[in-house]
Amino acid sequence: MAHDFDRVPNRRDPNVLNKWTWYPNDVLPMWVADMDFPSPKPILNELHKAVDQGVLGYELPSKALYEVVSARMDRLYGWKVEPEAVVAVTGIVSGFSVAARTFCTPKRGLLIQTPVYNEFHEVKNHVSIPQLDAPLVKSVHRNLLHYEIDWNIFEKQIRKAGMFLLCNPHNPLGIIFSRKDLARMAEICIKNNVLIVSDEIHSELLLDDNTFTPMAKLSAEIASHTITLIAPSKTFNVPGLFCGFAIIPNKDLREQYVKTVERLRLHVSSLGLHAARVAFGGQCEGWLKDLRRYLTANRDFLVNYVTEFMPGVCTTVPQATYLGWLDFSTYKLKDSPYDFFLKEARVALSDGRIFGKEGEGHVRINFGTTRKLLEQGLERMRKALKRIQ
Ligand SMILES: Cc1ncc(COP(=O)(O)O)c(C=O)c1O
Repeated sequence: MAHDFDRVPNRRDPNVLNKWTWYPNDVLPMWVADMDFPSPKPILNELHKAVDQGVLGYELPSKALYEVVSARMDRLYGWKVEPEAVVAVTGIVSGFSVAARTFCTPKRGLLIQTPVYNEFHEVKNHVSIPQLDAPLVKSVHRNLLHYEIDWNIFEKQIRKAGMFLLCNPHNPLGIIFSRKDLARMAEICIKNNVLIVSDEIHSELLLDDNTFTPMAKLSAEIASHTITLIAPSKTFNVPGLFCGFAIIPNKDLREQYVKTVERLRLHVSSLGLHAARVAFGGQCEGWLKDLRRYLTANRDFLVNYVTEFMPGVCTTVPQATYLGWLDFSTYKLKDSPYDFFLKEARVALSDGRIFGKEGEGHVRINFGTTRKLLEQGLERMRKALKRIQ
């Protein structure tokens, strides 16, 4: 492997608040969804160049940048996106919040598939609309967790919705929805006149030889009902630069969306724009290939470790993302597993409950780190479990 993912920089600067400094120094952070790896060299070089030039003035997204985004969609998926259909946003959370603010009403709320990314649950609060849950249904085979769509619930809830916020690939479950499932979800949404907002931020973090299809690529009709949200942030580990893109082929929807972006003055930082152009421009593909291989091996390590050394614990086998989902509900812990492992193992995970009530008894673990730190975290967890047996 040409790129070294076994060494990571020290991020414990006491003047900076990040996942490494949030908890005391003896806690191993395996929570917030950024990776411990440095970003690829071409992006860092571009940022150095922008800083060395000396002036960090205002910049706007250029036509060239939108062409880069459009060309990437064509190259990756054969999806023809007009550069005019692309709108820069200050991250994906802003991106879907703008959509909810623009298209939802108190009568027609937001449908989400729980357990799901915690920020999906916040939309109802800052836009004052109802949240409609269509929980994914869990099953367990040996110690492996599977989730699938309950179509009856999905259809029932969609009737009350104005917008469906899809998370694909899914955080925290690591699912890549099949084309068949995507088509069926889209058909139900279109029939009920519900806007689809597809958060595809994790779409390039594919494990094994998995492939990905954007929801809007399925048909022109679906594309005209869909806002697709993408970003280089997760893939190339630049989330702190807050730059993402909404792809909105439908002109009418796009004009309404852009009005809200402008009203809220959501300007992307110049460094975010620089990084995005290089990240999506194709100079980091070798790094990305190696990253996927490393993350796939980390995923395997995690699943094998849990299977071998944590009897009674169930795990997903994520198809994408660097996020694992562990179920400790057979353990009857006094505290939540999040509290238990923070206290007893000094490992900070994401509390399953922030993803919805189905997350009770679960934690999300971030394996976007070195194999050594992953092993260290799992060892600490195993020992903590052993002490209470
Ligand atoms: C599904 C999903 N959407 C959005 C985000 C955050 O996006 P941003 O930082 O661009 O707002 C995350 C971060 O974990 C995520 O997992």
